[in-house]
Amino acid sequence: MTTEANTRMQRPLDKVDPQIADLLREEAVRQATGLELIPSENLVSEAVLEAMGSIFTNKYAEGYPGKRYYGGCEFADKVEQLAIDRAKQLFGADHANVQAHSGTSANVAVYMSALKPGDTVLGMALAHGGHLTHGHPLNFSGRMYKFVEYHVRQEDERIDYDEIEKLAQEHKPKMIFVDMAHIAGLVAAGVHPSPVPHADIVSTTTHKTLRGPRGGMVLSKAAFAKEIDKLTFPGTQGGPLVHTIAAKAVCFMEALEPSFIEYQKQVASNAKALANAISRHGFRVVSGGTDNHVFLVEVHPRGITGSDAEKALDRAGITVNKNAIPFDPLPPMKAGGIRLGSPSVTSRGMKEPEMELIANGVAEVLTHMGDAGVEQKVRKQVAELAARFPIYESRTRAAATHARV
Ligand SMILES: Cc1ncc(COP(=O)(O)O)c(C=O)c1O
Repeated sequence: MTTEANTRMQRPLDKVDPQIADLLREEAVRQATGLELIPSENLVSEAVLEAMGSIFTNKYAEGYPGKRYYGGCEFADKVEQLAIDRAKQLFGADHANVQAHSGTSANVAVYMSALKPGDTVLGMALAHGGHLTHGHPLNFSGRMYKFVEYHVRQEDERIDYDEIEKLAQEHKPKMIFVDMAHIAGLVAAGVHPSPVPHADIVSTTTHKTLRGPRGGMVLSKAAFAKEIDKLTFPGTQGGPLVHTIAAKAVCFMEALEPSFIEYQKQVASNAKALANAISRHGFRVVSGGTDNHVFLVEVHPRGITGSDAEKALDRAGITVNKNAIPFDPLPPMKAGGIRLGSPSVTSRGMKEPEMELIANGVAEVLTHMGDAGVEQKVRKQVAELAARFPIYESRTRAAATHARV
């Protein structure tokens, strides 16, 4: 039987909102034909996308599995419990809260569970690798708590553990917690040492190296479980995003597959290969290299700002982000460097030989700043390389079909 309501609900996106439908297609083509080197991004599987764009977006489920404030949660409970159990298994954690809407929300819950306003925390300085939520003065963290910044050493741009020890003894911080947002995938695969056995509380995002949906998560020792849960809901959030939790569960399932270890090993090898190749073109890599998925390239000695480099590379189909470097002479909106990472290109199946090609393209654009001819030439090479490692084919095919009709 067809009802008016039913007919309304069945209308395809193209009919309801052709502008958004077009933009979805354009974004799929952008992602498929360009090279994504932003280290905090990745390319999720169709399985993760399917869970994310699912029927669970309709469901309110305030509370936790078995203890909800809404009816009809029998399937939401199962989804969240699967996500929790898989997260605990993946990271060997006593407790997992998978409800944080984002990495920032996860950190809000962590701080609220362990600190009072005005308490002292040690956090890494933003330009030295920290995040806004680690005490930046414009962020809630810097406004609510007294953050004492630690740094990398100027000589070798590596974390100065002596300074951390000195600062910890001097300021007696209430908390030194671990935010493993960037490296979570490497940690899950055993390619990076895990903070989970050592730290009381570990926060993370699920969308970077872990290759899940945009979201956050908090892992903790059993003793902190109750407080973390209480400060996530009702402390700092309302209803969880059950569709996102379903996608997190799928992401954890994929991360438990043996092939995820191979993927993460390749992420680290590719980052090393890319950093080495770029330095062979005469660009300095901050701290001389990388042990994980990300590295910074200093561009200001060439008279280029990170911002200009980002724009030029974007025009050539290579997406990076400008980034302040330690002891940066330029303000953050210009920045003296760019940040590059391997998670997305590795998800496409690229390996060391492709890292050489990407480095050639980056170096060519940056040594011919503002040369539209060079940018176009590299753009074409990028498209050819991307085409050899196809992604989201059903989406790009749909875009091509749509463009023809
Ligand atoms: C270390 C770290 N923590 C937290 C976050 C915040 O995550 P979100 O953007 O999901 O709020 C980020 C994001 O870049 C991050 O790199």
